[in-house]
Amino acid sequence: MIYAVIAAGGIGSRMGNVEKPKQYLKIKDKPIIAHTVEKFFVNDAFRKIIILTPAQWVNYTKELLAKYLPQNDKVVVVKGGDTRNETIMNAVRYIEETDGLDDDTVIVTHDAVRPFVTARIIDENIRYALEYGATDTVVAATDTIVESVDKQTISNIPDRKMMYQGQTPQSFKAKKLKELYESLTDAEKDILTDACKIFSMKGCPVHLVRGEVHNIKITYPYDLRVAKALLDEEIK
Ligand code: CTP
Repeated sequence: MIYAVIAAGGIGSRMGNVEKPKQYLKIKDKPIIAHTVEKFFVNDAFRKIIILTPAQWVNYTKELLAKYLPQNDKVVVVKGGDTRNETIMNAVRYIEETDGLDDDTVIVTHDAVRPFVTARIIDENIRYALEYGATDTVVAATDTIVESVDKQTISNIPDRKMMYQGQTPQSFKAKKLKELYESLTDAEKDILTDACKIFSMKGCPVHLVRGEVHNIKITYPYDLRVAKALLDEEIK
């Protein structure tokens, strides 16, 4: 079975002093999180859409989605974790407790603050996760990536042709993800910024899905302005 896992457990500190976590800010007619969930809601492949938020925002999110989505029992809201990976693991635990996990249980994990994901990206994530076990959505790097270990001088300039920027969704066979995550030490968990790294650091392949430049993550106030402009384009 296929599940959408919408990671909305962050507080959006880089957005600055706003009254709510950024996933609840409105672009045009509705909150960012409602735009994002809609993209998954229209895809019949999903048995459930699991949305994970900070504990104190669970009820608020339920009410909000009831207002913006048609009545349904496909969407559930549960508590996220202290890190993004813990948030994803909470979704895996939820699936295990409610439906059980089997070898073909796939989760399509997506940032709540990437409302411009496309149907093609979602479909390819599902297809490749079923076939290969793990996927990452990426776009080719346009800028040269410069590495600096000491933050003052260049330590490496990798070949740009081999560099990509990671987006989401990232999709996984849930049982495998759980096994790999539980095999990590606390120190390994601490340095993990990315769920795909759980697979790659254990030597398991992660298949690439072509993302889109407009599949932006809303991180800073500037991104909100870009998102408003992109939505105008989408509506046209
Ligand atoms: N996220 C999550 N659980 C966490 C932390 C983050 O589900 N414990 C989610 C965020 O809600 C967001 C996505 O992961 O949808 C991408 O993370 P990011 O943009 O870093 O969001 P925040 O952590 O909210 O932002 P900031 O780092 O500025 O505080």
